[in-house]
Amino acid sequence: MAEIDRYRSDDRRQVEALYRRVFGPDAADANRLRWDWQYRRNPNMAAEGPLIWLAREGATIIGQYATMPVRVSIDGQDIDGSWGMDVMVAPERQRQGLGDMLFRTWDRHTGASLGLGLSESSHRLFQKLRWPEVGPVPCLVKPLSRRALRRPSWPVPINRFVSYVTLPWIRLVSRPRPLQGEVRMIRHFDDGFTRLWERVGGAFRFAVRRDAAYLNWKYIQAPHVRYSVAALIRDNDPAGYAVYRHVQEPRGRVTLLVDFLTAPDDTAGFLTLLRWVDREARASDSDKIRTFATHETFRKLLRKSGYYSVKSSMDFVAKINAVSVSPEYYKSTDGWHVTLGDSDQDR
Ligand SMILES: CC(C)(COP(=O)(O)OP(=O)(O)OC[C@H]1O[C@@H](n2cnc3c(N)ncnc32)[C@H](O)[C@@H]1OP(=O)(O)O)[C@@H](O)C(=O)NCCC(=O)NCCS
Repeated sequence: MAEIDRYRSDDRRQVEALYRRVFGPDAADANRLRWDWQYRRNPNMAAEGPLIWLAREGATIIGQYATMPVRVSIDGQDIDGSWGMDVMVAPERQRQGLGDMLFRTWDRHTGASLGLGLSESSHRLFQKLRWPEVGPVPCLVKPLSRRALRRPSWPVPINRFVSYVTLPWIRLVSRPRPLQGEVRMIRHFDDGFTRLWERVGGAFRFAVRRDAAYLNWKYIQAPHVRYSVAALIRDNDPAGYAVYRHVQEPRGRVTLLVDFLTAPDDTAGFLTLLRWVDREARASDSDKIRTFATHETFRKLLRKSGYYSVKSSMDFVAKINAVSVSPEYYKSTDGWHVTLGDSDQDR
């Protein structure tokens, strides 16, 4: 009979070997590169160490549920929560109820159990457990070049034709527009960003607390990706930020707008950040910009700036335990602030 308990430092090698078996060698190498930062250096880590649940059978580890602890703001009230991630059960022990035990143990020990970007099997298990399903997180894309709408599955003449007929529209939506505020590139989030969060965090029905400690850990110290960070400055104080990076994908070059924040009613501020990201994306020769956003006001402004909605692959489940919320709470995420930067999605 398996038992579930917390990770100890001498479990590391066995957990790595299990990871390699379940997710393959490339994913295991990438996981090793991130591990210390992701689990040990999280500013929200508990005093007892990383919050990782293991299924053991005697001395053998046969399953894991790792988590990323975060502070979560629910209608302005802060609670402890955690993103679940890197859940795995040894292949020969799957479909025997171990995943169920791991998911429930995690849920009993966190104020909010949160899952983003699920695999087919974990999604099914969440459904079986009747976790509230609030996703997917809407995905939006802004085209910048005639290559933006290309599809590898289309023959060359079709791609050429689509590029030709959509070019005037792409030129219109991607035309440069003036910034209406001061934007500075930064390599450190100072205390002004904690004050910004204190001012605006309460406006969201749900959001991970984005204070300076969290932002520096997530976007400055990450060992596996290098982000650019633009800060919107007003009267020498931060009024918002945008985190982005440029990537080469098989279909072309993409700028990922990974995370952002302004007060939701700061229309000029958010549009200024979007225009900054437009310039940066063009300077880096990107064909399009892609972002994920739940909040209706941000999405409206994204659409106004030339973004359009595409199918999202980022499923999202959330179960709030520490405070009582009504079933209505989960019906719409229009007032929630969730982005690609949340959980460990951008990796
Ligand atoms: C997700 C995972 C941890 C679940 O663990 P498990 O021990 O197999 O889960 P349980 O036996 O407790 O629950 C089984 C339920 O999960 C779902 N499920 C598990 N594996 C599934 C699969 N391959 N296809 C579809 N549904 C699956 C089903 O709802 C299933 O219920 P059923 O057996 O009555 O149909 C395990 O399948 C796994 O390690 N998968 C590979 C790694 C992975 O995808 N991790 C998630 C990353 S987000």
